[in-house]
Amino acid sequence: MSKLEDIVSLCKRRGFIFPGSDVYGGMAGTWDFGPLGVTLKKKIMDAWWEYFVESREDVYGIDAAIIMNPRTWIASGHTATFADPLVECKECKSRFRADKIADGINESVTTEEFLATHTKCPVCGKENWGPIRKFNMMFSTHVGAVLPEDTADNPELAEKNIAYLRPETAQGIFTNYKNVIDTIYPNLPFGLAQQGKAFRNEISPRDFILRDRECSQMEIEYFVAPDTWEENFEKMRSLQHDFLENIIGLDSKNIHELEVPKEDRAFYSKRTIDFMFDYPNGEEELMGLAYRTDFDLKNIERESGKSMEYRDKQTGETFVPHVIEPSIGVERLFLAVISTAYTEDEINGEKRIVLKLPENLAPYRFCVSPLLKNKPELVRKAQEVYDKLRKKYINVTWDDSGNIGKRYRKQDEIGTPKCIVIDFDTLEDDTVTIRDRDTTEQIRVNIADL
Ligand code: GAP
Repeated sequence: MSKLEDIVSLCKRRGFIFPGSDVYGGMAGTWDFGPLGVTLKKKIMDAWWEYFVESREDVYGIDAAIIMNPRTWIASGHTATFADPLVECKECKSRFRADKIADGINESVTTEEFLATHTKCPVCGKENWGPIRKFNMMFSTHVGAVLPEDTADNPELAEKNIAYLRPETAQGIFTNYKNVIDTIYPNLPFGLAQQGKAFRNEISPRDFILRDRECSQMEIEYFVAPDTWEENFEKMRSLQHDFLENIIGLDSKNIHELEVPKEDRAFYSKRTIDFMFDYPNGEEELMGLAYRTDFDLKNIERESGKSMEYRDKQTGETFVPHVIEPSIGVERLFLAVISTAYTEDEINGEKRIVLKLPENLAPYRFCVSPLLKNKPELVRKAQEVYDKLRKKYINVTWDDSGNIGKRYRKQDEIGTPKCIVIDFDTLEDDTVTIRDRDTTEQIRVNIADL
């Protein structure tokens, strides 16, 4: 098995991540987070929120609706241009994203350019392709009491009732920019941050949770005076490294910046750095840092007829701010965290799997166990210790299944940094054993000092 397959298997076995709608055979590109996964995911999201919002005076949070007025997507350019190059194999009818199966081309590839790559179909091995078609990745839905037959002969009405699931959280921020200015009028530069679901009808979801049809994003739109964008871009760039390396614990050796060339940049960006990460299956984009200029606010001005100008508090000068945008997918960060932590080693000749998660992210910080489950005096004492710790920490778990060796293996696999065991000595001298996940070393500690 590859390392990615090992991680997928651990995630399912231990209740981190299950395939979406598993009981019905799954649903491509969707994943469900189980009890441990949801805790780890929440800790990652909380760490981001604390670092980028709560601990800063210049960043404010918002939580916008997922379904937005469709004019949002006309103004942002998504209706016209948020599309991938779709190509169909005429032999086996399989469909692919052209730029993902051929080398040396990008998203704007033409049919001629694609055919010149002489790519073979990854499914049937033949080379017989249809033309490249643009496939818009937004999921559409109908809003209100409109049945498909009501609009069958009336495309105008149909279009009026179509809404989209947001393909990025960013537009929920841009459309609230004016509300924030009109209510709290922050000093410039300031940021608006949001965490939430985004939906993309990916042609080929793949690599476990790396490319999903439903994902969660954490984004900041950082509004700056136009002539200060470069210095703010640099500040944001070093904050991203600090967060990823010092708060989340990713190894800087596995993060590589990629200056995205003009022809590969999103339609709204004048400069983008992709932060690439060495995932088990190779290097992939973890997050992006983009200079979006005044593209979005100007588009909103045009579409809504409302001014998006900011009035400088000192000089009285008015202008439309420019925007620096760090954007990261929660699932991609989750996979980076778990693949960094996933370790196979050997302790006293016995192979084990251990998740060396940073303590601030581990789903449980402590596991409390009675050495033997059939000795009521040990169970009683262990329960006392467990209750005591739970008053102080929220992430404490209880484990009395199997024998002690099996419990250690299980806690190693879910990344619990410390296991506390109550044995017969505890009943004599009120000390317990604390076992360290990474070194497996054990020390004796007084219960009073825990
Ligand atoms: N607002 C800018 C934006 O959405 P993006 O590069 O399309 O830019 C930003 O997406 C981040 O969101 C990516 O770097 C990635 O971490 C995450 N992301 C995007 N599409 C994804 C998908 N289909 N599955 C999982 N994560 C995704």
